[in-house]
Amino acid sequence: MSKQSQWKTSTGFILASAGSAIGLGAMWKFPYMAGLYGGGAFLLMFLIFTILIGLPLLVMEFTVGKIGRTYTTEIYGKLTNRKWLNIIGWNGNIAVFVLFGFYSVIGGWIIIYISIVLMQLLHVLPQSLSDIHFESIISNPVYTVLGQFIFISITCAIVMLGVEKGLEKASKVMIPLLFIFLLVVVGKALSLEGAMEGVKYLLEPRISEITMESMLFALGQSFFALSLGTTGMITYASYAPKAMTIKSSALTIVIMNIFISILAGLAIFPALKAFGYQPQEGPGLLFKVLPLVFEKMQFGTLFYVIFLILFLFAALTSSISLLELNVSNLTQNDNSKRLKVSIWVSIAVFIISVPAMLSFSALSHFTFGAGTIFDNMDYLVSNILMPLGALATTLVVGQLLDRQQLKQGFGADRFKLFYPWYVLVKYVLPLIILLVFVLQLI
Ligand code: PHE
Repeated sequence: MSKQSQWKTSTGFILASAGSAIGLGAMWKFPYMAGLYGGGAFLLMFLIFTILIGLPLLVMEFTVGKIGRTYTTEIYGKLTNRKWLNIIGWNGNIAVFVLFGFYSVIGGWIIIYISIVLMQLLHVLPQSLSDIHFESIISNPVYTVLGQFIFISITCAIVMLGVEKGLEKASKVMIPLLFIFLLVVVGKALSLEGAMEGVKYLLEPRISEITMESMLFALGQSFFALSLGTTGMITYASYAPKAMTIKSSALTIVIMNIFISILAGLAIFPALKAFGYQPQEGPGLLFKVLPLVFEKMQFGTLFYVIFLILFLFAALTSSISLLELNVSNLTQNDNSKRLKVSIWVSIAVFIISVPAMLSFSALSHFTFGAGTIFDNMDYLVSNILMPLGALATTLVVGQLLDRQQLKQGFGADRFKLFYPWYVLVKYVLPLIILLVFVLQLI
């Protein structure tokens, strides 16, 4: 990513890291996880974890990137003089590789939906959004393989050509637009009969529904949505200008993420109750419910297509960060290798994405551990590799790095936040992550 190193202002850095963070995590994964793990109880845990754990961890990753300034399979060794600690960077690489594998399945679904709705708009297909049957679409391996192939190919083309910057600039327009669209959908969903039941489901924290399992998944959701523990955020910070403002960038990203997650929930749960679906629909939730809301709107089909394109855009700015991390580490920032490496990594991702996709059709009965192959890939990344990467980084930062150097990286400190942050990272966060982690094993 040597092109990225030319960022002159913090804006490029903020756009890229926000682009990486905001994607399927907030819009697709949050609602379906909340549906599986107790609605309001899940939201409450997610908020607590995101603010008390996610935010300081994001600041930590930015700080490490800012003082380390190299790719992440070298940065840990460079900062600590212990080469073997680069293994934390490799952990991140494996995490994003597997993550991209199942992320592309959902990216592929978005592409299939866009094609169908476009055909409806052009009257090639009968024009009713309620005729789109999620189950029959995802059980057709030809569509789904094609969808994810296109999703991976677009991502690969962008990374290969090194044109992420253009995309990041476009996100200045696309993300606010997505926000507006979400608000409109929320408005419509709230006007449906029975909507309030859904609002209650999402916002009422029924503490009794909190379980060890749901806590683990809420923590995993915070990690996933903020791209934590994969070293992806460290990479972006390592290319940013020295003067960038770490804390405000992290705070902006956290707030945007929380907002989009809640809006997605408010778009889906009221409609879900109104249309008589169950919250436990799983990964297909958003794809089943939203077309029905759009159908109730004037120009619904047109609006739905625009919404899907914005959604695809948000997913792509995340998937390019997934691929970019592998490419920048494997090429060690040597741009002459970029083309080849991007293609090879993409092919490998495509290969592992096929069994993930088949989890919704031919292999849906093949379950073990956390569920289907898809569920296990997600579990491995969100609940094991990401927390592990973050835990290891807190240990490096708290135990091995020089406090003065960290303080410099942390930057101007008008509100005297360095010490509370340092105490959190050194003593509190490793213990909490470890605790949740160990409890899941029991
Ligand atoms: N945070 C991204 C999302 O919510 C996913 C992601 C995870 C991207 C880790 C990069 C690294 O969609």
